[in-house]
Amino acid sequence: MTRRFLVTAALPYANNRLHLGHVAGAYLPADIYVRYLRMLGDDVIFICGSDDYGVPVTISAQKEACSPQEVADRYRRLQQEAFRALGIEFDIYSGTSICRHHAPSAQEFFAKIHAAGKIVPRETEQFYCPRCDRFLPDRYVEGTCPFCKQPEARGDQCDACGRAFEQTELIDPYCATCRSRPEIRRTKHWFFQLDSFREALRAWLGDAQGWRENVRNYALGTLRDKLPDRSITRDLSWGVPVPLAGADGKVLYVWFDAPIGYWSFTKELFEQRGDAEGWRRYWQDPETRLLHFIGKDNIIFHAVIWPAMLLAFGDLVLPANVPANEYLNFKGEKLSKSRGNAVWLDDMLARYEADRVRYYLTAIAPEGRDSNFTFEEFTARNNEVLSDVLGNFFHRVFTFAERHLGGRQPKGVAGDARARGLLAKVAEARDRWQDALEGLRFKEALAAAVDLGREGNRYFDAAEPWKTRKSDPARCALDIGASLELASALSVLLAPYLPATAARLRAALALPAAAGNSDVEGLGRPLIAEGAPLASPGILFPKLDQEAAT
Ligand code: MF3
Ligand code: ZN
Repeated sequence: MTRRFLVTAALPYANNRLHLGHVAGAYLPADIYVRYLRMLGDDVIFICGSDDYGVPVTISAQKEACSPQEVADRYRRLQQEAFRALGIEFDIYSGTSICRHHAPSAQEFFAKIHAAGKIVPRETEQFYCPRCDRFLPDRYVEGTCPFCKQPEARGDQCDACGRAFEQTELIDPYCATCRSRPEIRRTKHWFFQLDSFREALRAWLGDAQGWRENVRNYALGTLRDKLPDRSITRDLSWGVPVPLAGADGKVLYVWFDAPIGYWSFTKELFEQRGDAEGWRRYWQDPETRLLHFIGKDNIIFHAVIWPAMLLAFGDLVLPANVPANEYLNFKGEKLSKSRGNAVWLDDMLARYEADRVRYYLTAIAPEGRDSNFTFEEFTARNNEVLSDVLGNFFHRVFTFAERHLGGRQPKGVAGDARARGLLAKVAEARDRWQDALEGLRFKEALAAAVDLGREGNRYFDAAEPWKTRKSDPARCALDIGASLELASALSVLLAPYLPATAARLRAALALPAAAGNSDVEGLGRPLIAEGAPLASPGILFPKLDQEAAT
């Protein structure tokens, strides 16, 4: 039975190129998962786009002396190019300032929840900078985190402890633009009554299956006490206008409109496909599994607030899982632009092939805890695993087959006991790989594939084909045939991770370009036709120069 999945990856702010922390945190695991599901033949769409509103974009525009729209459009294109170069295959990459997000989606969401009485107006106190002559929502103000006391916390959320709060709770606030002390003025805003969904959220999270415990516990932890109403409007011009009379000059808070982007981009995708109602299958069928891939600083939004919005809106599915990664650190600190501690994806891809980057970022994926990126380790792991384990195995086997077996797959592999022993290991590796992928343990599934490559090298060494070539040519041919089968298995198991490498391998093995479910299921039996012509894929991973690594 085909399963249906709606997979999203956090919408990156459109004021920024992408750095490797973003990639390792959300986009790469999401892409690996989607490629895996597509290979199985499951029905899946993969939705993303840029998060265009919010203060980060206006602050960049201010610095670069251009309009927020220009900033958003420019970075959206840069992000799209970098994702494409890394082989991330979204079905759509849109942006929240692309107008169809406004009226039919974000405003409809607000209006319906408002009509249901779950959004209420209130006079509030808000920071105002007399020097800059404007209100200071969100990141326009900084200060010390009221929870963990980290200095330079942003006005809406603390990077250090991940807690979200109202900015008036900040200790020692200052204007992020001119650093003067803001005053407090009264203004009217609208608040979402989050607490009315607390019990429903607890029940939903309590029943959730297959979640990472840290994600679920964090979310459940925020639901222990009464939830304050959350302000969801701002005194800004850049954003989705609040769809109410008397709300001039107010826009929706970016964290209210952005997740709605997942829904509006899905609708946009199906409009493009000429199937305007097609989105309903993904958002309204309770059988659909909705997965949000994110970094850990987004947990509260995706596992608490957005699900509450979905409950309030009604008729849409709740997330089946929110796979959140921890942080990727660089030089001992979280990778982040604001901290001037970033390794940019486009820079990295200008130097290294995408599969090398995909490999290393998965091998060190911050799945259960923070991990560290270093260029030294990037080079070392590329050399030790991609060159010495996988590249070496493919090179030996193909070269031998070309030189000594006429470049054709030998006959009789299926009936040979020793080859069958190796194929049994292939089937075991597939099971381990599949179990890990179903459980969203991407590092472990990759390790299963790499370990199978090691097994291939061991088999080749033990078989000593360079000797049996003369002493027992029939044995030699069967051993090379078995090794080629292992190579074909790797072209399946590696495909979600190293798509370019897998494609080259499959071409070399005269197999259909894309592996499918029958290949996955067939692992453990020979996949290459007897007598099929083979052509070496060449050296897949030349060694990287350790000295050049910085
Ligand atoms: N732009 C946010 C960030 O980078 C993520 C937004 S995800 C969405 O942290 F759900 F709101 F779209
Ligand atoms: Zn100011």
